[in-house]
This record gives sequence, structure tokens and C-alpha cells, in this order.
Amino acid sequence: MEIKAIRGFNDILPDEIGKWQFVEKTAREIFEGFGFSEIRIPILERTELFSRGIGEATDIVEKEMYTFTDRGGNSLTLRPEATASMARAYLEHQMYSFDPVAKLYSMGPMFRYERPQKGRYRQFYQIDAEVFGVGNPMVDAEVIIMLIHFLGRVGLENLELQINTLGCRECRPRYREELKRFFEGKSGQLCEDCQRRLHSNPLRIFDCKVETCKEAIQDAPRVTDFICPDCQKHFDQVKDYLAMSGLAYILNPRLVRGLDYYTRTAFEVVSYSLGAQNAVTGGGRYDNLFQEIGGLDVPGIGFAVGVERLISLLSKEKEFVQHPQLFVAALGEEGYKEAYRVVNLLHLQGIRAELDYERKSLKSQMRRADKLKAHYALILGEEELKKGKVVLRNMENKSQEEIPIDGIVNVLKEKIVSD
Ligand code: HAM
Repeated sequence: MEIKAIRGFNDILPDEIGKWQFVEKTAREIFEGFGFSEIRIPILERTELFSRGIGEATDIVEKEMYTFTDRGGNSLTLRPEATASMARAYLEHQMYSFDPVAKLYSMGPMFRYERPQKGRYRQFYQIDAEVFGVGNPMVDAEVIIMLIHFLGRVGLENLELQINTLGCRECRPRYREELKRFFEGKSGQLCEDCQRRLHSNPLRIFDCKVETCKEAIQDAPRVTDFICPDCQKHFDQVKDYLAMSGLAYILNPRLVRGLDYYTRTAFEVVSYSLGAQNAVTGGGRYDNLFQEIGGLDVPGIGFAVGVERLISLLSKEKEFVQHPQLFVAALGEEGYKEAYRVVNLLHLQGIRAELDYERKSLKSQMRRADKLKAHYALILGEEELKKGKVVLRNMENKSQEEIPIDGIVNVLKEKIVSD
């Protein structure tokens, strides 16, 4: 039986990879310009990191983690997100001892056992950026500005930035109680999962997609009516800083995010071109996460962009596939030897050159050059070679010229690079 990839796990094929590389390169350029440095973290962590960090009573921890026991009897989990691992690394390597402020980014695959559909996979990629060690609302705005700038630079349009505040340890418990009271009055309308959430984590009811639950949510109390003066001040300042940068946003009091570590600022960027899974990115502040995972009292804020969703929004017109800069077509023994020599020298110069390995006819070699959309073709014919000449054809406008074989690599390099 033919072996196929696992459901929800995708191959990213060479004809799509140009988009991925473009997105990753743009993220690196922009994030580094904002003072961020890359960090690479393991794909496997101890299960506790996520159950304590993300929260026991979240969908991710309750039903979406790929958890297994290794041969040493340890419970390990394929990372469902990167924030908790980045926080662990900051603590473990005492990154704060040099400077308490760390601006970090990371990219790579995450794993969640969700029901696969368009825009929702079991292995998906995130580009993640986090700032550790700053509680000031200025950095909340800065992180959002970097995110919006990045999304703009990759060419995304028709996006909506939604923000909310989720309060803190002081004021959230009051809100939670109020929510519980409210939903208890509506418990007949709630699905089985939400009946459970009502006791374990009533905030999670906001994420439920069941119609009757969505109706029940309509008149639910708003977190913004319960936050303490400090959280209110923080939120007002975030809004002021965003306004100072001319950034448009929508206040969404129903935005609670699916992870329990959030405090105060929460945000998402949604696209109306995406359908049901419309969040391209989500993030927020998490001032208790470090303590939850057994560390110091360090504030943090960040976001993660879903790369598959972002890529599905990239312009269809923009060309991302890399074509050969040059196709070398050859005839005869001498022609092939020369083609081999020239192509290897070009490769060493970083020029994307392709040749025929099968000794096909000239016609079929040129057909392949066309199919591969090579920009130029170099034709090494027996007669021309005897005269020390080769033919260079511009495949776009079909013009061609004879050039001497001597010093050919430099001539080609100049032509191709200046093109
Ligand atoms: P999240 O909202 O769970 O947040 O995920 C962030 C983004 O990852 C989503 O907006 C979506 O684009 C993408 N995503 C999530 N699940 C899937 C999936 N199954 N298939 C495809 N794409 C998906 C976090 O993960 C937080 N760690 C974000 C964060 C960073 N908050 C603070 N810092």
C-alpha cells in the first residue's frame, strides 16, 4: 500500500516554497529592524510546560496536544505553540542577567490535534515574536505596530486589527464570577462542552462555535466593565500609543483568546477573505506566564502569525516561483563537456543554471528551457564551438547574439545579474 502523509500534515512543495521564503525573509528583516533576535527552541518539551503555561482548562491542553511517554517514562508534548518554550528558554538561560529586556522571534511548526479543514491543520507554522521584561503599554503598541507593518510589507490587505483587555489577577476573578452567574442563568442553551467550561473556565465559552452558545454569549457581561483602574489605565495608554502611530483598530470586548496565560492587552488580526478560520494572527500580554511555569515575575507580550493562513492571502499576481536564469543547451561530445564546465562555474557564482543530462535533440532541449521559464538559453552547437563562439538567446524577447566562448562566465554573469 502506498504510504501517504498523515491527515492535517502538509508537504510544502517547491512551487509554493517561494512564498514561504519571501514571508520568512520579510519577517526576519522587519523584526531585526525592530531590535528582535532569533531564537530556536525544541519541538518537544515536557508536557507540564504547556499544561501549566497555556492552562489545564483550555481546548489546547484538554484535547489538542500530541502527548506521549518516552522510553524513559517522561511525558512529552509536541509544542502546540512557541510562547511557553521561549519563556522557558529565557528563564533557563538566565537571559535576564545581561539585560532584563529580551526581544525574540522564532519560526517553525506547531502541532495541535484539531479537526483539519481549510486554514486549520494538525501541523502548521507560526512566526512568533515576543518581548520579555517590559510591562509598559508602550511596548504593547510597539509589538502591534511591528506586526501590522510586517503584514503590510508582505502585501496583505483588508485586514482588521481587533483589540481588547482581559484584566489581571486582581480584577479577572470578579469578572469570572460574574460570567459564571450569567451563564448559569443560560445553562439550558449551552452545549455539553460549555456546561463543563461554565465551572472550569467560563471565559472559554466565548470561543464556542455552537449556535446556541453563540446566542447565549450575546448579552454576556463585558470584561471592560470589570477591570481595575490600573488595567484601565494600561488599556487607555495602549490605545493612545496606537492612535499616535495612526493605527486603526476595532474594540472587540468578546475577544478572549484561547490560551489562559493572557492578561491585559489581547489582539487579533482577522481577514475577511479567509472564511471560517479568519484569524491570521493572535497575541497579547501575559504577565503571569513566567510565574506559572515556575520562574520569576517577568511581564511579556507577543504574537504568532499563522503562516499557512498568511500565505493563502498573498497576491495571486506576484511571481514567487524561481526559474532558471540560464538554460544551457548542447550538442555533440565537445558541446556537452563545455556545457558541464560552464554550468558548474556559474553555480559557483550563484547563478541558477540548468542543463540537459539526457542528450536530447536541440528542439527538445529548447522546449524544456521554455517549460522551465528560463530567462536565457545558451546554445553550444558543434559548428559555433569550432569557431570559439556560442549563441545566447533571450527567452523573453527571442533576440539572440553570438558571443565568444572565452571569458563566457564573466560575460554571462554580468548580463544575467544586470538583467
Ligand atoms: P493562537 O491564536 O493559538 O496563539 O495561534 C496564533 C495563530 O496561529 C492563529 O491566529 C492562526 O493564524 C494560527 N493557527 C493556530 N492554530 C492553527 C491551526 N490548527 N492551523 C493553522 N493555523 C493555526 C498562539 O499560539 C499564541 N502563542 C500567540 C502568542 C504569542 N501570544 C503571545 N505571544
